[in-house]
Amino acid sequence: MERGVGVPDDQDDRPGSGPRVDPLVRAEARVDPLVRAEARVDPLVRAEARVDPLVDPAALVDPAALPLDTSGGPGGRVPIGPTGRPFPRFAVPEPPAQPGPARVVAVCNQKGGVGKTTTTINLGACLAEAGWRVLLVDFDPQGSLAVGLGINPNGLEHTIYDLLTGSGVAAADVVLATRVEGLDLLPSNIDLSAAEVQLVGEVAREFTLARALRPLTGSYDVVLVDCQPSLGLLTVNALTAAAGVLIPLECEFFALRGVALLTATIEKVRERLNPDLLVDGVLGTMFDSRTVHGREVLARVVEAFGDLVFHTVITRTVRFPETTVAGEPITSYAPSSPGAFMYRQVAREFAARTLGPGPR
Ligand SMILES: Nc1ncnc2c1ncn2[C@@H]1O[C@H](COP(=O)(O)OP(=O)(O)OP(=O)(O)O)[C@@H](O)[C@H]1O
Ligand SMILES: [Mg+2]
Repeated sequence: MERGVGVPDDQDDRPGSGPRVDPLVRAEARVDPLVRAEARVDPLVRAEARVDPLVDPAALVDPAALPLDTSGGPGGRVPIGPTGRPFPRFAVPEPPAQPGPARVVAVCNQKGGVGKTTTTINLGACLAEAGWRVLLVDFDPQGSLAVGLGINPNGLEHTIYDLLTGSGVAAADVVLATRVEGLDLLPSNIDLSAAEVQLVGEVAREFTLARALRPLTGSYDVVLVDCQPSLGLLTVNALTAAAGVLIPLECEFFALRGVALLTATIEKVRERLNPDLLVDGVLGTMFDSRTVHGREVLARVVEAFGDLVFHTVITRTVRFPETTVAGEPITSYAPSSPGAFMYRQVAREFAARTLGPGPR
């Protein structure tokens, strides 16, 4: 029997209400005594799960539910993560004493509703929580990043539009502090769609965002650009300004549809505009660990992208839509929920992959 990693869909972390345990995880552990027995005979595995519960979110709920890879013999027992690969320990670097120059990362997928904005807000908040100085750039005229952070994008005096169109406004005057310490926002609103039209006739139009961000990158460690769901000029600007691309992929049947177009666009930008552009990672979102289907989709994503796929996977939980309504990241809305936990884990993995010593 396959032992899947389960994470509760929702965990209510209000005082007084204990964690709701995914009944499937428990049921599975009950019907498969080997899962428990295995954990009993290898105290090291239990100890490891206790020392670093971050190894797997399911360990928080029921460490005995951790599936183990026993193929390497007793010494080779490692937890298997939701992507079906051994879940490593991340060597997470410390934020430097002085910020900058920031790593600019485009959060990009032309498919709508895959978790770009949710990932930008919550990865940003988790990095800020860990001491990194983070700027979020709203590069979608919907202004969802501002909304998700409790700011009304339509009442703003200045937005990124002013920086793209060279209106003379200083970049620092457009940046807003958010309620999260260490997390700032370069907001946008519907004006950005006008900027896209205006840029078409400009010289070096693909470099407009890179130019606009230049005065800001020295003040941050990470700049996350939340792209709109299209591969138009704005997204090409984001890819030209970026050192890395983070691709959120919804774990559903058509997840990989359209990804070839995205990778072809990244390749074109690399060839023609930004030779150093890297794919920083592919993040599975809205994963349902209880369905075989979700696991199959993840297996196909790993087949297609290999090590670029984050070991951490974001499960589907109603907590994320709730955070949008509340206008805050999940780390403050539900700090000890599995959702907050998973994005903290993504932040650790992201930092380990891309924020180590050396040029960003
Ligand atoms: N892990 C998740 N579980 C459940 N709902 C989620 C999850 N992540 C995001 N959502 C919800 O799905 C919807 C789409 O998410 P989000 O806005 O982050 O996607 P997007 O890729 O930015 O969309 P767009 O392409 O329109 O910009 C939102 O209502 C969000 O709250
Ligand atoms: Mg969005």
